Amino acid sequence: MTQTQPNLPKHISAGETPEQHAAFEARIAAGEKIEPGDWMPAEYRRQLIRMISQHAHSEVVGMLPEGEWISKAPTLKRKTILMAKVQDEAGHGQYLYHAAETLGITREEMIEALLTRKAKYSSIFNYPTTTWADVGMVGWLVDGAAIKNQTMLAGCSYGPYSRAMVRICSEETFHHKQGKEMIVLYAQGTPEQKQMAQDALNRWWWPAVQMLGPHDSDSPNTGELSRWGIKLKTNDEVRQEFINEHVPELMEAGLTVPDPDMHQDEAGNWIHGPIDWTEFWAVIKGERGLGKQRIATRQAAQDEGAWVRDALEAYMARPKGEAAD
Ligand code: 3HC
Repeated sequence: MTQTQPNLPKHISAGETPEQHAAFEARIAAGEKIEPGDWMPAEYRRQLIRMISQHAHSEVVGMLPEGEWISKAPTLKRKTILMAKVQDEAGHGQYLYHAAETLGITREEMIEALLTRKAKYSSIFNYPTTTWADVGMVGWLVDGAAIKNQTMLAGCSYGPYSRAMVRICSEETFHHKQGKEMIVLYAQGTPEQKQMAQDALNRWWWPAVQMLGPHDSDSPNTGELSRWGIKLKTNDEVRQEFINEHVPELMEAGLTVPDPDMHQDEAGNWIHGPIDWTEFWAVIKGERGLGKQRIATRQAAQDEGAWVRDALEAYMARPKGEAAD
């Protein structure tokens, strides 16, 4: 939280005036994009660094649960599709780290925050991919939820983030379709394949519902993010969109959504049962699930890649005019 001033709202930081904020918010209301060199409230910058860097961490850590299946894919076709998807996620991470860097934070600072667990990444990636059907379910549900969230963010007020989302959403659509195609095939296949798909749904449904964040009443950041046009919809609104799209499709595929309270209201919305937020926070804190293993894997990758960074730095620091070897 940035330094606040007495008698002024907490989103106005020390040295900022209500007039500056009014002009800034008028730009957003007029649909203008805020660009890196523009004046922006310190709290706007802090919120974006928090959100975009955690989004980037999520993309890169998100490669781990699916990446482990590349060598075990059942066919060459599935292997190449999965390789393409995992490579896309790596690219999404790079777009987003670069978008965060435009706000003045360095890559080293972001990676340090991840590896020391000061920064979060999406809870969903702390779940294991137990069978091959989990890979399909991740594509259908996790990328499906991500698309709802990221389509909303494509309209956000910060230019670099908004533009990164446009590119990422086009690739997510392929991720989502390939996952759905796989699961529908298995759900309509042999009894063993259908059971494998149902077991995967039982494992991934609730973590996917949770990944869109706590209920709005428990979301400390949504207020500021909505005020400044970063979040155009709340967590619960995006969650409802995700549920309304996916419940009928899962049922049509012959699968059972593992929520006995799920029902449709008069307005046609699918209403879920109570969400286990204790599980959600335990997984984020690494008390349950694979959080510790995910960070250890990222730490190992960071250590093993040190020689590449050192070589690049040495090359960039070489005396001008010295020919490359
Ligand atoms: N996992 C981990 N932490 C979460 C979380 C989740 N699923 N949902 C919320 N949190 C954290 C928030 O980061 C915040 O903690 P912080 O203040 O220390 O950062 C706290 O819980 C309270 O939540 P809020 O609702 O107040 O936080 P936000 O307003 O930031 O909303 C969010 C949470 C909806 C995840 C929002 O940050 C967001 O839209 N982020 C950008 C999208 C993103 O990060 N998606 C992650 C998945 S990426 C992905 O799926 C890739 C795809 O290719 C598979």
